[in-house]
Amino acid sequence: MDISDLVRPAVLGLPPYVPGKPIEEVERELGIKGAIKMASNENPLGPSPAVIEAIAAAAPKAALYPDANAFYLRKALSEHLGVQPESILTGNGLDDVLRIIAETFFRPGDEIVVPDPAFSVYASVGMLVDAKPIRVRGRKGLGNDPDAMRDAVTGGTRAVFLCNPNNPTGTFVGRAEMRAFLDALPPRVLVVLDEAYADFAEDPDFPQGLDFVKEGGRRLILLRTFSKIHGMAALRLGYAVAEPDIISAMHKARDPFNVNGLAQAAGVAALGRPEHVESSRELVRAGRRRFYAELDRLGVGYLPTQANFILIDLKRDSRPMYEFMLRRGLIVRPTHSFGLPDCLRITFGLPEQNDRFFALLAEGLEAGL
Ligand SMILES: Cc1ncc(COP(=O)(O)O)c(C=O)c1O
Repeated sequence: MDISDLVRPAVLGLPPYVPGKPIEEVERELGIKGAIKMASNENPLGPSPAVIEAIAAAAPKAALYPDANAFYLRKALSEHLGVQPESILTGNGLDDVLRIIAETFFRPGDEIVVPDPAFSVYASVGMLVDAKPIRVRGRKGLGNDPDAMRDAVTGGTRAVFLCNPNNPTGTFVGRAEMRAFLDALPPRVLVVLDEAYADFAEDPDFPQGLDFVKEGGRRLILLRTFSKIHGMAALRLGYAVAEPDIISAMHKARDPFNVNGLAQAAGVAALGRPEHVESSRELVRAGRRRFYAELDRLGVGYLPTQANFILIDLKRDSRPMYEFMLRRGLIVRPTHSFGLPDCLRITFGLPEQNDRFFALLAEGLEAGL
């Protein structure tokens, strides 16, 4: 049945989101067990035991609607971040928050400047409301190039997205460059600063977006998620921090019960466990050092990263290597959909998972892949 006359043109034109391949699917398709995934920038430590306890304690209340205002979660976040609860909006993952931003602020025909390569959802939420993504490849070819992004701003620009550190490159914009970028934009333009991976950054020049929000007076929305550092991707919990006027407009556009009760309880518990955050950070930092050393030894190119993943460059189509690893039960992320056909993005794993990756990489390189 052809229903193309029924579907809105904006939806017809949307590219499908390409997720990392699920473990269960790979095991089913290959008839294997023990596959591992280093493809979706998840946290191999999982959530803290306190989070699992909080979910179990909240489960009997599953018959009741959750708190529509996520009072306790926003209170805990408010104390954690040092901003008032009126400056915080929680969502069903950052994907939900991004959609709320589009539905609250974008009009048909608005230009939204997005980095390229970058997380594809910025462009797709814009396209859904008939805004026009202006993709900025960046002079260095690495995504988040603030100068090129600023140059792409016109009188028709509604918003600019920046991802720091950037996905899939892991590269970052430093403190002075970030301030210059924010200060140089026309004040009417909304800036969406996605810090999904900021907790993993260790470079002393990495800027905290929260400091810029706290300075006040900016049309700046900071995005953070519990999916990565807190190991809670399945629960779907992310949040925005901005001036109360901006947040209050977004509250009007969100679904009334957009954060489920288990995620609310889990979020409060996660914020009370800084030691789990530190362990996650340590694991990533150790993984980073290991990857640099092994990749140097194998002569494989990569971009220095501030995130929990690394982009490697095989200097030839990466699909054969991806498929070879997949057949051996290791899922990594090919980056063809980001316009990087020679690269693979690998999430740092537990030490034994990293061992498995390097054994397969060496074997694949040896075989000429
Ligand atoms: C840069 C970036 N922003 C946002 C998200 C979405 O996060 P969430 O799981 O909170 O929806 C991701 C997920 O991978 C991401 O890479």
